[in-house]
Amino acid sequence: MKIGFIGAGRMAATLALGLAQSGYHIAAIASRTHESAQLLAETIQGCQAKENSLDIVRNCDFVFITTPDDSIEAVVDQIHWREGMSVVHCSGAKTSDILKKAKTDGAHTASFHPMQTFPKTGGGDTELSGISFALEGDPLVLNKLKDMASNLGGWSVEVSAEHRAIYHLSGFLACGAVTTLINQASGLWEILGYKREYGLKVLLPLLKSTVASIENHGIADSLTGPISRGDIGTVEKHIEALQQNAKSILPLYKSLASGALTVAGQRNDIDQTSEKALRTLLDDHI
Ligand SMILES: NC(=O)c1ccc[n+]([C@@H]2O[C@H](COP(=O)([O-])OP(=O)(O)OC[C@H]3O[C@@H](n4cnc5c(N)ncnc54)[C@H](OP(=O)(O)O)[C@@H]3O)[C@@H](O)[C@H]2O)c1
Repeated sequence: MKIGFIGAGRMAATLALGLAQSGYHIAAIASRTHESAQLLAETIQGCQAKENSLDIVRNCDFVFITTPDDSIEAVVDQIHWREGMSVVHCSGAKTSDILKKAKTDGAHTASFHPMQTFPKTGGGDTELSGISFALEGDPLVLNKLKDMASNLGGWSVEVSAEHRAIYHLSGFLACGAVTTLINQASGLWEILGYKREYGLKVLLPLLKSTVASIENHGIADSLTGPISRGDIGTVEKHIEALQQNAKSILPLYKSLASGALTVAGQRNDIDQTSEKALRTLLDDHI
């Protein structure tokens, strides 16, 4: 199987390298700019940078479209695909329906989304092993994609087209939302007279321990802090401090504290009176 990529960004860099290291033949890469394609092709043995997408279709029988989500359909629509070849995109939010032009031309289409973040171009430094890949599309391609996920050291999960948005949203909450929360938490250090970078340095060990604890002990047993102890006075102090110093974060705090209260309630180690008082306190300020 000769694999090609259209789009030589962050996703392509990691996936192409990972597949090559797992024994797959990455034959050719094209991108909007030849420079990006060349840079990536140079890191993979036996891979050539091509001038345009048509060269990928001519030279490969399995093509990943790894352009930004909003360009995928336009890229696919411009190409006449060969019958029997496979065309796959890596968007988490979109289904294989956006590859309909390829399907009409007789290609097999699917989507293959790794639940992982690839923040930098350059590839190689993000783990593909141990992660899940959401699959959806033509069963003929799904079998090959399942093998790829497994050869990359990951596993595959089938997510229907109907539930795609919820699936993608779960990833946003675990990654983009957490990143945004850490930005807010670090920013509070400016009120203390420090730079936010310093705040981040203080908070990172806490974040790492929290993730490790969730992995080792589960969510309920990882919840610490005033909500989990039923410390109403401390929560009152938090709300007061936010009202005085960072009012814009108050709705976020209350929404998260309310969610934490639900987890603490499931754990049964907060008495009903404290739970009710905390719920009233949080509701009062919403
Ligand atoms: N990054 C992540 O964390 C991540 C995680 C999971 C899934 N994904 C998915 O992976 C896909 C790619 O995302 P990414 O983060 O890798 O994006 P990216 O880093 O912005 O890279 C996009 C690449 O596509 C190329 N490109 C843009 N328009 C093009 C066009 N019309 N024709 C050909 N090439 C074009 C760009 O070209 P030039 O460099 O040549 O200018 C760039 O190399 C998306 O579907 C995304 O949802 C990304």
